[in-house]
Amino acid sequence: MKKAIGIFDSGVGGLTVYKAIRAAFPEEDLIYFGDTARVPYGPKSHNTIIEYSIQNSRFLLQQGIKTLIVACNTSSAVAIPALQQLTDIPIIGVIDPGAEQAARNTINKRIGIIGTEGTVRSGAYTTAIQKLIPDALVFSEACPLFVSLVEEGWQDHAIAYSIAEEYLSPLKKLDIDTLVLGCTHYPLLRKVIQDVMGSSVTLVDSADAITAYLACLIPADSDGVSGKDSFFVSDNEDKFARISQQILTDQFGTLSRVRLFESWFQD
Ligand code: DGL
Repeated sequence: MKKAIGIFDSGVGGLTVYKAIRAAFPEEDLIYFGDTARVPYGPKSHNTIIEYSIQNSRFLLQQGIKTLIVACNTSSAVAIPALQQLTDIPIIGVIDPGAEQAARNTINKRIGIIGTEGTVRSGAYTTAIQKLIPDALVFSEACPLFVSLVEEGWQDHAIAYSIAEEYLSPLKKLDIDTLVLGCTHYPLLRKVIQDVMGSSVTLVDSADAITAYLACLIPADSDGVSGKDSFFVSDNEDKFARISQQILTDQFGTLSRVRLFESWFQD
């Protein structure tokens, strides 16, 4: 029986990763879980992010997935070791693919990271980049309101420019040549971020890099049958459906709300 790839995020942001995987693997079944009841994860404590990530992963593991994609930088930054205790299937986070792409791109070894408070606080990108380029200078900035802009569907709104100017002005003074979009919500603000940073800065989106990782890990399902798409959220399915249709445009599978069952909290 065909086993699916499981993907989770705190909300709609991970759909940027989902979309890249769907385009690269048209025959794979994909199951996406967005924890819309508890988004945002960025301002939450380390332990809470780990706890939520474990619960989300348990739900996906109960669906019999073959690979788990942590399409949330905040979870990827702190929870991967805890998730590896749950299962033997491959688990891929978004930090390493993004760090590798940034390291490949930079020429002046000055790299910016934008992400949630949790991701920035973890220092995970700095560690991953400096493993690849020990003398790289990495500058990080938390941009918490970007997540709300995306969850509201306001990525083209004038207010997005004002907020981006405010958050990104310190990075603009640091002569970076590469900026990692270290939150899966941020690629949805790509145009605003690029306009504010200017064309000399290359934006790195881990969604692009993660598909290469996946290709090395899983044998491709090539039965000629288009993969199924199943979406689950923990709340507000109408809002999720509205925003996800803007992001995915042409593709949409089944969408269901799941409750935070007791079983999620048990071994
Ligand atoms: N999209 C998530 C990330 O990549 C988190 C946004 C949030 O829940 O704060 O970090």
